[in-house]
Amino acid sequence: METTLVLIKPGGVQRNLIGEITRRIEARNLKVVGLKLLNAPRATVEAHYAEHKERPFFNSVVDYLTSGPIVAIAVQGDNAVKAIRAMMGATNPLEATPGTVRGDLALSIEDNLTHSSSDPEAAAAELALWFPEGTI
Ligand code: CMP
Repeated sequence: METTLVLIKPGGVQRNLIGEITRRIEARNLKVVGLKLLNAPRATVEAHYAEHKERPFFNSVVDYLTSGPIVAIAVQGDNAVKAIRAMMGATNPLEATPGTVRGDLALSIEDNLTHSSSDPEAAAAELALWFPEGTI
């Protein structure tokens, strides 16, 4: 059993896709064990994307994630990390397969609707960052 993190980015919240994305997660028989709507503190987003600190898009992705409310979801299930990554689709929506969240609902890499943890180690670190109080 694994637990992973999904963030629904500001564009997904603005486009009223909280329900659609959460529906797909639950339909896969993965369990929501943490869920919150929040205006993310800049320091939290910077820590979240620390591995991208030297990348040219770092400031713009941090600006974007702090531009409006986001939803943080802790998702639990067998192989949840890999299952969620596959469900979200390729980072660049233009390369995402139809049937994935990005392949069906997104068009640009800047607004690719969701973030999900890349591996179990990243999931543990990201869950500690976004759910310091723990999950259910
Ligand atoms: P995410 O999975 O949240 O991880 C880093 C984010 O940076 C990524 O999704 C994209 O939304 C964003 N980003 C913007 N430009 C790029 C880029 N050129 N390459 C990768 N990620 C990018």
